Amino acid sequence: MLYSICYVSSANNLSANSLEKLFFETEQNNSTLNMSGLLIYNNGNFLQILEGENVHINNLFSKIKKDDRHKSIIKLIDTPIEERIFDNYNVGFLIVNDLKKQKTLEDYLNWLKQAEIESVDKVVGIIENFINNKYTNSTN
Ligand SMILES: Cc1cc2nc3c(=O)[nH]c(=O)nc-3n(C[C@H](O)[C@H](O)[C@H](O)COP(=O)(O)O)c2cc1C
Repeated sequence: MLYSICYVSSANNLSANSLEKLFFETEQNNSTLNMSGLLIYNNGNFLQILEGENVHINNLFSKIKKDDRHKSIIKLIDTPIEERIFDNYNVGFLIVNDLKKQKTLEDYLNWLKQAEIESVDKVVGIIENFINNKYTNSTN
């Protein structure tokens, strides 16, 4: 069964190097696990969307929850899904860590908006709010 989890969290003062290490680790593991979605770091906060087999998602998310590189995790989506949103356009698992990747994400969001995929509006809204810094973590 396919499952999706989306959350925001606050990074624990990560250096540029630690962030790169985290992105690298994530990219490697997620392609092995056939995980789609995205990980965005913006202004001290993370937004992550994970899509994949239920068992992989649950295992991974229980590790992520315990990871001391971030805190104040707030789940926004936690649900079985009929189909992946990030499986099209060769996006797979997208790590948004530079302007080129940001452009890829923006193009993809525009494509998503006109595609008739269930539950896309909510996901697109979450991503756009996060990118535009409208998400503020009340514990900060
Ligand atoms: C914000 C954040 C997002 C993460 N996302 C992933 C991810 O998508 N995939 C992944 O394998 N690890 C991710 N990690 C790292 C995991 O918490 C964990 O360190 C990693 O899965 C390796 O665990 P292991 O050494 O027990 O296999 C993330 C960590 C943080 C702080």
